[in-house]
Amino acid sequence: MKKLFISLAILAAATQLSAQKYEGLALTPQMGWNSWNKFADKIDENLIRETADALVNTGLRDAGYIYLNIDDCWHGQRDSLGFIQADDSRFPSGIAALAEYCHNRGLKLGIYSDAGWQTCGGRPGSYGHEYQDAIQYARWGVDYLKYDWCNTENITGPGAYRLISEALKAAGRPILLSMCEWGNTKGYEYGAPLAHSWRTTGDIWANFDGILDKGTWHANGVMQNVDINEKLRKYAGPDHWNDPDMLEVGNGMSVSEDRAHFSLWCMMAAPLILGNDLNNMTRDTYKIITNREAIAVDQDSLGIQGMRIEQKDSIEVWLKPLMNDEWAICLLNRGLMPKTVDLDWERWNTVDEEVSKREISFSDTVYDLKDIWSDDPKKVCGNTKSKKLKSVTIDGHDVKMYRLTPQADKKRK
Ligand code: GLA
Repeated sequence: MKKLFISLAILAAATQLSAQKYEGLALTPQMGWNSWNKFADKIDENLIRETADALVNTGLRDAGYIYLNIDDCWHGQRDSLGFIQADDSRFPSGIAALAEYCHNRGLKLGIYSDAGWQTCGGRPGSYGHEYQDAIQYARWGVDYLKYDWCNTENITGPGAYRLISEALKAAGRPILLSMCEWGNTKGYEYGAPLAHSWRTTGDIWANFDGILDKGTWHANGVMQNVDINEKLRKYAGPDHWNDPDMLEVGNGMSVSEDRAHFSLWCMMAAPLILGNDLNNMTRDTYKIITNREAIAVDQDSLGIQGMRIEQKDSIEVWLKPLMNDEWAICLLNRGLMPKTVDLDWERWNTVDEEVSKREISFSDTVYDLKDIWSDDPKKVCGNTKSKKLKSVTIDGHDVKMYRLTPQADKKRK
């Protein structure tokens, strides 16, 4: 009898830990576009169709941005049975038609809801309708759900996200679940079996380093979200990512700030969800968001969130282990004035004790360098022993980012 109880207890514990979600939908961080950062509540089906076309025509889809996500304010009312409907003044063709439009173009459609009774924008939330909403999204052909956390006074994070995760599973369509509780309930601690990513921070705004007071809440600049997300790296990995919020590239920061923002998201293996107007973007914005070498750092299949190994004056040094013993290094200048940094490689010898257990030793191994933001990011531009690359100058609010490949046959020793 005692044995039976012990077995049952082990089984119960195992079931608790076993994945609830549809597994394997985000083995590398999800990439796509979301309407909120640029358009907020001013959305309609024309914008979604135009953005789908832009994703295809500009080559962004082929660079990996496959999710087209409608954020808050698409909802109309529930029908007499309680099933949610789209706002038919803005989405007269309905969500299923948009999903089909996306699928015909090799894209996937994302949608937004909230665990509370109302969304942050005051539309109907999913509280009390979780299974019905999941069924409706599955019927429509939705592929992604961002699930927000406004108006949730009497519910718990683990309870609410388990419920929607179970509902999505029961509805029978693989739908990526992106939790959005801003880190308020420590979603990073319980989210991995339930969801594919969780927000670790409050909302971002298009500012490099500053907090915007919104009265009852505040929006964070890029650096504020980096500082929060960086501490949580042990929680992230394939199929369960820390999400420091969507990208603000192209929404008003300087080109160097946009480049630094994008680089850090790649170093942190963050979901890359664009938030700019794809039908009106500059050449510089386009170059940043389509840099294949930067994207490859984000999408590396090892799936390890990078770490900050040094902070000195305004300069930070970040490392990210990659597959095949490669690494990425990012030197960030948080200050406004240009800074010259000695490339003092051996000082940066590191063992990633916390997560990957991988070691980079510039004393033992020579690494070839590719300069990710140069005009020719695939070309080897030097190595960690070369005399000519002894220092680099980094503009204010900018980065230098390199891919490091070990010269296997030239190990020193
Ligand atoms: C919250 C989320 C944002 C956005 C808005 C929509 O603030 O964190 O990303 O979805 O709600 O109202």
